[in-house]
Amino acid sequence: MKFHITTFGCQMNVHDSGWLVRALESRGWEEAGENEAQVFIVNTCSVRDKPEQKVYSELGRIAAHLKRDENVFAAVGGCVAQQIGRGFFERFPFVKLVFGSDGIANAPNALERIVEGAENRVALLDFVSIYEERENPEERVVSISETRQAFVNIMQGCDNFCSYCIVPYTRGRQKSRRPDAIVDECHALVESGVREISLLGQNVNSFGLDKGGVGVSFADLLKSVSELNGLDRLRFTTSHPKDIAPEVITAFGELDNLCPSLHLPLQSGSDNILKAMRRKYTKERYFSIIDGLKAARPDIALTTDIIVGFPGETEDDFQQTLDMIERVGYESSFSFKYSDRPGVAAVNMEPKVAPEEASERLMRLQTLQNNITRNSLKNLEGLETHVLIEGLSRKQDENGTSWKGRDPAGRIVNVVMDETEGMIGLMIPVKILEAKKHSLNGERTGESW
Ligand code: SAH
Ligand code: SF4
Ligand code: F3S
Repeated sequence: MKFHITTFGCQMNVHDSGWLVRALESRGWEEAGENEAQVFIVNTCSVRDKPEQKVYSELGRIAAHLKRDENVFAAVGGCVAQQIGRGFFERFPFVKLVFGSDGIANAPNALERIVEGAENRVALLDFVSIYEERENPEERVVSISETRQAFVNIMQGCDNFCSYCIVPYTRGRQKSRRPDAIVDECHALVESGVREISLLGQNVNSFGLDKGGVGVSFADLLKSVSELNGLDRLRFTTSHPKDIAPEVITAFGELDNLCPSLHLPLQSGSDNILKAMRRKYTKERYFSIIDGLKAARPDIALTTDIIVGFPGETEDDFQQTLDMIERVGYESSFSFKYSDRPGVAAVNMEPKVAPEEASERLMRLQTLQNNITRNSLKNLEGLETHVLIEGLSRKQDENGTSWKGRDPAGRIVNVVMDETEGMIGLMIPVKILEAKKHSLNGERTGESW
C-alpha cells in the first residue's frame, strides 16, 4: 500500500507522524507522493480555528484524488479527529479511520484491517489512563534522521485547563511515561549515533506528578538523560512557568550538554488576564523565574508564546504584555490572536476584543519583537560557537557550499564550506560574522567532529 501523510500542529504531532510512518513501513507499506497514494493520512491540530479549517480544505483537496482512483481513502488523526470524531465519516464519506492521540497506537492495525476489507470504518477515540508504550520502540533507532537529532516523548496530555485551550480535551489527562523507558530509548538513540535529544511533552515540568509518576521528577529525568555518554545536546519543550522547579532552573548552570535556551510561554503580561487565563502565576513570579535562569546561565536564549486579544484584554493589559516582552528581552516569540475554541471556559468570557483591535495589537507586538530579535542577534556577532549541521542552506553562495545548522541555543547559522557533501550531523566550530533578520552567518574556524 502507498500512503501519503500530512501533518499540522506541534512537535508532538510531528513526532507521532514519524512513528506512524515507521509503523506502516514495518508492515510493508510505502510512503508516496500525492499522485500515487492510495491512503491519505492527515494528522491534525485544533489549537486555533485556522489550523482546524485547514483540515477541511485539505480533505477537500484529497477528495479530488477519488477521480483518479475510487478506492482512495483517508484517515484523520490528532486533535481535530479527537474533537470531531465520527462526524468526519458523515462530512467526508471517504474518511474511513479517525484516531485521537491515544488511539494512534492502534492506527496501523486498523488501517490494515480496512485495506483487507475486514472493517469499513474505524474510530479510535478512547483515552487510556496510563502512558502506553508503542510497538517497536527500537525501530526509532534504526530510522533516525541523518541529522542525528531525535525527539523523545516523555508524557501525553495536559491537566492544566488554561481557560482558552483545547489541548486537555483533545489530548486527554496528563500521563507520564516510565522514566526507565525514556532513559532506555534515549540510550539506544545515543548508541546509534544521535547527538541531540529533545524531550517532548505539553507540560514537561509536571513530569511524574500524575498517577503514572514513580517519584522521579523532571529535574531527575533531565540529569539521567544528560549523563548519557555521547549526548552532545539536550533540549526540552514545552515548559509551564507555574511548575518549573528550582532544580530545573539550576540545571541550566550544571548540566554541560543542556542547551542554553528555554521556551517559556508567558501568554500575557497582565496579572488580570493571566488570572482569567487560569495560568496560576503572576508576572512578578514569572520574572523571578527569568532572573533565576539568567543567573544560572547568563547566555540563555529565551523564547515565548503570547496570546493577544484575550476576552477582556484592555489597552492597558496589552501594554503590560509589551512591557514584559521588553523586560525579558525574548529572542523570539510566537504570538497569536485569541481564537474561540469549542468547550473551553474562555468562550463564555466577555467582552470579546474586536478582531481589528486584536490584529492591530498583534502587529504592534510583532514590530517590537522584530526589533528585539534583531538586536539580540546583532549582539552575537564576533562570538565563537559550534553548529550542528542539518543540511544545505536555502540560499547558496558563490564562494562554496552554504550549509545550515544550529548553535547550542537553537539559532540557525549558515556557514560556507568547501565540502559539497558529507557534513550533515557534524559539529563545526564557527565564528559568527553577521546577523540576518532571523538567522546568523558564520565562518568555520576549525576541524569538524
Ligand atoms: N503546552 C504548551 C502550549 C500548547 S498550545 C504550553 O502550555 O505552553 C501552543 C500555544 O498556542 C499556546 O502557548 C498559546 O499561546 C496558543 N494557544 C492555545 N490556545 C489558543 C487559543 N484558543 N487562541 C489563541 N492561541 C492559543
Ligand atoms: Fe494548553 Fe495550558 Fe495545557 Fe499548555 S498548559 S497545553 S496552554 S492547557
Ligand atoms: Fe495542536 Fe493538538 Fe498540538 S491542538 S498544538 S496538535 S496538542
